[in-house]
Amino acid sequence: MSIRIVFIGAGRMASAIVRGLLDKEHYLPEEIACTCGDDPTGPTLAEETGIHYFADITNALYEAEAVVLACKPQQFNAIDTTLADAATGKLVLSILAGTPLARLSEKFAKARNIVRTMPNTPGQIGAGVTAFAPLRGLTEKDFGIVENTLSSLGNFHEVDESDLDAVTALSGSGPAYVFEFVAALREAGINCGLDEGLAESLAIDTLLGSAMLLADSESAPEDLRDAVTSPGGTTAAALKVFQEGDLRGLVDKALAAAKARSLELAQE
Ligand SMILES: NC(=O)c1ccc[n+]([C@@H]2O[C@H](COP(=O)([O-])OP(=O)(O)OC[C@H]3O[C@@H](n4cnc5c(N)ncnc54)[C@H](OP(=O)(O)O)[C@@H]3O)[C@@H](O)[C@H]2O)c1
Repeated sequence: MSIRIVFIGAGRMASAIVRGLLDKEHYLPEEIACTCGDDPTGPTLAEETGIHYFADITNALYEAEAVVLACKPQQFNAIDTTLADAATGKLVLSILAGTPLARLSEKFAKARNIVRTMPNTPGQIGAGVTAFAPLRGLTEKDFGIVENTLSSLGNFHEVDESDLDAVTALSGSGPAYVFEFVAALREAGINCGLDEGLAESLAIDTLLGSAMLLADSESAPEDLRDAVTSPGGTTAAALKVFQEGDLRGLVDKALAAAKARSLELAQE
């Protein structure tokens, strides 16, 4: 059985993708190979899933149809020319945050196509959302490879590369905003007299339940908000404070700052 897909990097995201590909039976373990850096993430992933690990992945890449770049963006420069040459005629799919198609194409100049993606951290448990931008239009076969790979991380959307800085600002950095909001709810709950454990538990379950209700419903978030807001009630009292403090204006500024930083980082 020959190797069909290789992973450069075997950390959290690569591991989530590999497990998703195997769970959904898109590949057999012997059709997947990975490599890593100095720590033993690759051998560990291979041992846990039955895929191959090679310290030097070059020969496996010659055999494969696709390569997933899943190392850290800083480790991208360490990918040597021999390995990049072995990707001639292959589909290259990068999950490296903030690494533009232009930089990917310099290194993988002979790839048959390159896809830049922006996943987010819930992808580590298959509950993420990823946006992807291909260098050229994807063939049906390559779209299938992209679909199988990204569906392991959760939902996915095709976008123009020019949208990826905004995507980074919204869904890429977004989990941190949500975690910060949960922490703020916990702190405010404590200030209202609850003990810390209970406040944290109520905050997390409120987020989880609300997200599930939103995903399950066809209503807009504003409609679900209005459905729990009786005139003159407790929710209305709290929402009035959000409005007076211009919560939406603040979120708007936060996303604009994240987008501007994403644009700056792409130039570095
Ligand atoms: N984590 C997220 O939720 C998230 C979200 C959006 C985007 N991303 C992107 O996903 C990528 C991977 O993130 P991660 O969280 O999975 O990172 P991670 O857990 O730190 O894994 C990085 C992997 O790259 C390997 N590596 C290091 N140097 C290498 C080299 N020279 N050649 C080949 N492999 C090398 C590491 O190996 P050793 O550790 O064994 O040395 C490790 O297996 C990053 O580019 C990040 O920007 C991640």
